[in-house]
Amino acid sequence: MTDTPLTLDGFRALLASFEQEAGPAIAAADSSGALETVRAKYLGRAHGWLKDLSARLGQLPKSDRAPAGSAFNEVRLRVEATFDGRRAALAPSNVPGEIADRTMPARRSWQGTVHPVSQVIDEMIEIFRELGFTVALGPEAESPWYNFGSLNFPADHPAMDLHDTLYLSDDAVLRTHTSPVQVRTLQAYPPPIRVLIPGNVHRRDPFDASHAPTFAQVEGLVVDEGITFADLKATLTHFANRFFGATKTRFRPSYFPFTEPSAEMDVLCGVCRGSGCGVCKESGWVEILGSGLVHPSVLESAGVDSERYTGWAFGMGPARTALARHGIPDIRLLYDSDIRFLNQFAR
Ligand code: DAH
Repeated sequence: MTDTPLTLDGFRALLASFEQEAGPAIAAADSSGALETVRAKYLGRAHGWLKDLSARLGQLPKSDRAPAGSAFNEVRLRVEATFDGRRAALAPSNVPGEIADRTMPARRSWQGTVHPVSQVIDEMIEIFRELGFTVALGPEAESPWYNFGSLNFPADHPAMDLHDTLYLSDDAVLRTHTSPVQVRTLQAYPPPIRVLIPGNVHRRDPFDASHAPTFAQVEGLVVDEGITFADLKATLTHFANRFFGATKTRFRPSYFPFTEPSAEMDVLCGVCRGSGCGVCKESGWVEILGSGLVHPSVLESAGVDSERYTGWAFGMGPARTALARHGIPDIRLLYDSDIRFLNQFAR
């Protein structure tokens, strides 16, 4: 057989016979399997007729290729549309009684979990909600006055160095604690107040086994008439017993500019139950929060009459609490987003 060179008309004729044959063949396919056979024959990328036609396109004289190409594309789109329509009509959900493979095991759906730090925060909010606390939030870029001044840090006081502060500008600092929201809340709402304040804070800290430069805190604040240290102690002890299960707590005297007196609360180490281990650095106790009676000057900064009202407050780091609760050795694990690690805390 001698090969006569392909002409534009010849190519159009090939396209027409392709369409005349492929269209009815697709329409006649009466099952997904039959349709697949037809697809491979006409539209298959490896050996299909359409593939063959596109190769023939390349054999045309250059000047014929543009019109031939658009004719080719028109036919291709029409046949593909016929195919898509037939495939939809044969899809199992559209054919009563047909299910592709009844023996195939169901696909496991992927489920996210609540991060262990968020779990601590959620549980705290729940426990304090029962005691009448609501939730308040504040900005992460804070003015130095709210972050320090309003909280009774004297100007240039060395206590600010402990926070290793990150300034965005002279009048904006990444807040180093959630305590400024105490003042913001008191300015916005008159006492009596019971709030929990979760949020992220930032310090120029190294990223090591027990520090992170950005971490969550949960602040608590109560202001009312007649509030005393007994309220602080009873509430925080109740919280520790609810959160950790019946446990021992102890309060150690401490110092914060915004509380007087101040105390840190420890709970018995949940991993060794007091005998000493790596998690509690052999002390048998784990420090979980700082607290104290709100300093009168903080109340006054917020415009609250400190002769009439008193209050107590605390600040806690839920990441450290999550470490203590689960006996996790390195805080960085909480930041890694490693699903194998996080799935262990799925509930
Ligand atoms: N703001 C303190 C810190 O980040 C934590 C703290 C201590 C908050 C005592 C309080 C408090 O409200 O009363 O280290």
